[in-house]
Amino acid sequence: MNLSHFFSAAEARTDRWRQMNAAGRAWESAIAQGRKDQQLYDEVVRLYAEIRPLEDYWAYPGPRLMATIGEVIEEHNAGAFVRIVQKVSSALLTGVYRYESAAWNPLQEDEGSIPDVLPPDVQPGEAHKPYFELLIITPTDPNTWERARNALKRLRRPEDSFNYEVVQVGSFEDGILGAIFNYNVQAVVINDGFTFRSRHDIPLLREFLQRHLRIDPASIEPGVLATTLARVIKNIRPELDIYLLTDRSVEKLAGSGETGQIRRIFHSVEEVMEVHLSVLDGVSERYDTPFFSNLKKYAQRPIGTFHALPIARGKSVFRSNWIRDMGHFYGTNLFLAESSATTGGLDSLLEPTGNIKKAQDLAARAFGAKRVYFATNGTSTSNKIVVQAICRPGDIVIVDRNCHKSHHYGFVLSGAQPYYVEAYPLTQYSMYGAVPLRTIKKALLNCKAEGKLDRVKVVDMTNCTFDGHMYNPKRVMEECLAIKPDLIFLWDEAWFGFARFNPFHRRRTAMGAAAALTARYRDPAYRDEYKAFAAKAGKLDPKNAKLLDMHLLPDPDRVRIRVYQTNSTHKSMSALRQGSMILVWDEDFHKVEGTFEEAFFTHTSTSPNQQIIASLDIARRQMELEGYELTMKMTELALRLRREINNHPLISKYFHIATPEDMIPAEFRGSGLKDYGPPHANWKDAIDALDGDEFALDPTRLTLICGTAGFDGTQFKNLLADRFDIQINKTSRNSILVQTNINNTRSDAALLIKVLADLSREIEAQLSEGGKPEQEIFAARVKSLMTDVPDLPNFSRFHDVFRDKPNAVSNEGHMRPAFFMAYDDSQCEFVKLSSKEIDDRLKKGPELVSANFVIPYPPGFPIMVPGQVITADTITFMRKLDVKEIHGYHAAHGLKLIKPSALTKAKGRAR
Ligand SMILES: Cc1ncc(COP(=O)(O)O)c(C=O)c1O
Repeated sequence: MNLSHFFSAAEARTDRWRQMNAAGRAWESAIAQGRKDQQLYDEVVRLYAEIRPLEDYWAYPGPRLMATIGEVIEEHNAGAFVRIVQKVSSALLTGVYRYESAAWNPLQEDEGSIPDVLPPDVQPGEAHKPYFELLIITPTDPNTWERARNALKRLRRPEDSFNYEVVQVGSFEDGILGAIFNYNVQAVVINDGFTFRSRHDIPLLREFLQRHLRIDPASIEPGVLATTLARVIKNIRPELDIYLLTDRSVEKLAGSGETGQIRRIFHSVEEVMEVHLSVLDGVSERYDTPFFSNLKKYAQRPIGTFHALPIARGKSVFRSNWIRDMGHFYGTNLFLAESSATTGGLDSLLEPTGNIKKAQDLAARAFGAKRVYFATNGTSTSNKIVVQAICRPGDIVIVDRNCHKSHHYGFVLSGAQPYYVEAYPLTQYSMYGAVPLRTIKKALLNCKAEGKLDRVKVVDMTNCTFDGHMYNPKRVMEECLAIKPDLIFLWDEAWFGFARFNPFHRRRTAMGAAAALTARYRDPAYRDEYKAFAAKAGKLDPKNAKLLDMHLLPDPDRVRIRVYQTNSTHKSMSALRQGSMILVWDEDFHKVEGTFEEAFFTHTSTSPNQQIIASLDIARRQMELEGYELTMKMTELALRLRREINNHPLISKYFHIATPEDMIPAEFRGSGLKDYGPPHANWKDAIDALDGDEFALDPTRLTLICGTAGFDGTQFKNLLADRFDIQINKTSRNSILVQTNINNTRSDAALLIKVLADLSREIEAQLSEGGKPEQEIFAARVKSLMTDVPDLPNFSRFHDVFRDKPNAVSNEGHMRPAFFMAYDDSQCEFVKLSSKEIDDRLKKGPELVSANFVIPYPPGFPIMVPGQVITADTITFMRKLDVKEIHGYHAAHGLKLIKPSALTKAKGRAR
């Protein structure tokens, strides 16, 4: 195996073990049948040589089993080889090595216990203790490693909450590889004094270290190798606990800036018991779920309830004649854990001071935020809370028109004026991309030119978009802050909460960017960079068109980092439906703390659901302990799906997964990266693109083009659900969105590929049996879906009545009064979409002005907002729309418009 492929190494590793198993069987049977076995033997030797280097980074199978396998190969003992390889390969697959000692012993038969993969209510026996691995980077002689491992093992006690095994490596580079490859690692002990270079050949890693982390072995002083390693590992996996063992003056070191990433520093190796206890303690801090644990305790107590929640304790269910099946279905605990109390340690979501507060603080640590607020009504609510907290009437919000409707409703509620900016269109798929930085800068500069930059409060974008376009939040914020240093950013990361836990995606997150920019502007080197920029750019004159193409830099003395992120935890992590979080990194939070509280009270139920809150606490625990493994695997699975489908000779005739090249125009893809994975790019190229390009495509969101197979999106979605029990996320005119998630397995991927292969065969048969007429019908259908696509309408403008200055270049408007005009029937009228009146008014007026939001699903963004002038583009789009669900529009009534007479009356008053 090539160590350079390390972002997919975990899956490749199990594949290789299976291959070695198969090769061993072939070798054994050749011997049994007296056939020539040299070639098969050579294959076994080759596979073993390939696997060996990777196994240096894992505790299991470990040196003893690996050495035994090497010995039996040398002895040409095919029988023993097959037995041991079979044992290891199935232990790796099922994970039994985590709790079954027999799996570690080459001579012992397996006990045949059932792996932890079944639901807990059908899994017999006690749950096993969680297992993890401790990575030790050490300069000691490898011959002493086994002794050191055994010394640590002797410290284990039955009352320990976790089991762990040790992996030792001997160099800086191997330490990094260990942290990358081995997702079982939860803690790292760095034993000062090791060398830099791995004995393995890893050119890509070396280039990566130099280019991205600016690590040049020649320039690292031996003394700081250990702290540099801690920094690099934290950069890749921030959740890991890092300990340093050193002979240097630990007192001095502990107080220095070098050791910020290190959890504890120990003097030399004598402290082995302390190290052991610290490692367990560190993991238990992440394992801790203050709210959930207390809820479990609460559920065990004999509590009499006289409050208004009859279902609590389950008595109204279990004693019922008619609804006992509810009790059977949901189980006892759900009812025991239901409560409306905020006492007994249950805390109040509205004013948390106890376990909810602690759970939110732990989430802040995990997600790299300054604060976290839990929400139990989805990100729809989180967005409204944030918009209302930071905006007041008259404030301007520069916002992607395609954002989720909760933002638009937030503007109505707060009275903020949206300045709609457009994402680039992907007309061919009937969807939008993301808003170019140039467009956002232009909007800010327009406001500056018109003297209203002070009213621009927020830039509000969706990252990543439904279809997977990831912004470069660091770049966007940096350049916007250069124009207005106290701007607030709301990044709707509804789909993207998981991204924090994966080194690929994290580079594109709001919180990752907030941390990076904070560090950057505090660095003295930035001052020099800024000085050079300021000398070149001068005063930022909004009329200077060159500013749009220049990389603008903010003044380090004025810049404030004010970033809000909302995420639907339930969409990408193990939280119950509606579980959502608001992450805050706001250096001026004190200025909005009061209004944030008000907004939180406005939107939060006074009876929030305990189970949703508990699930947010648990989702955080899971991501801090296995988020890395899960998100790496889901990314790997997505890459596999992309590769298999697009390269399959039959499937690719009819279906295609849109690549970065398809989804992002070249002007936003400076790296030139066209696709993920071979033959187009290796992981290092992908990271270059992630770091540098204006937009990148989240590989886990797969736009599967089905129009080329003659299916429209909705039809294909229904077909997959009805015939194959496959549920997918969203559709467009000619595509569906397939999303890999932390729950997906390779069996799921196989199912999808098989279905596509079966359907492709059916299409082939149909086309060949139906002859020319059938082929013509098919071609016409494909053309209609793929070529005759409606143009996507841009936001036109607010009617003059809702504008402060109708001829201003900036397009913000007073949406709130328009929204409330719709409440008065006498001010509104309905006009049928197909009527001649529409065409006449489009030509001669009076203008058609929408009274409400009109949101077709798909695509799911408002093609009309209250107060918007409806143009011919929008009418054409509406008329071509063939979707069933259009919120805010009823065909029987027609379009709801504000009457021209009402607009005349409202002149000068609509504020
Ligand atoms: C970008 C975006 N933001 C917010 C939401 C709303 O999230 P929730 O379903 O958690 O209320 C969605 C829902 O699909 C969304 O796509």
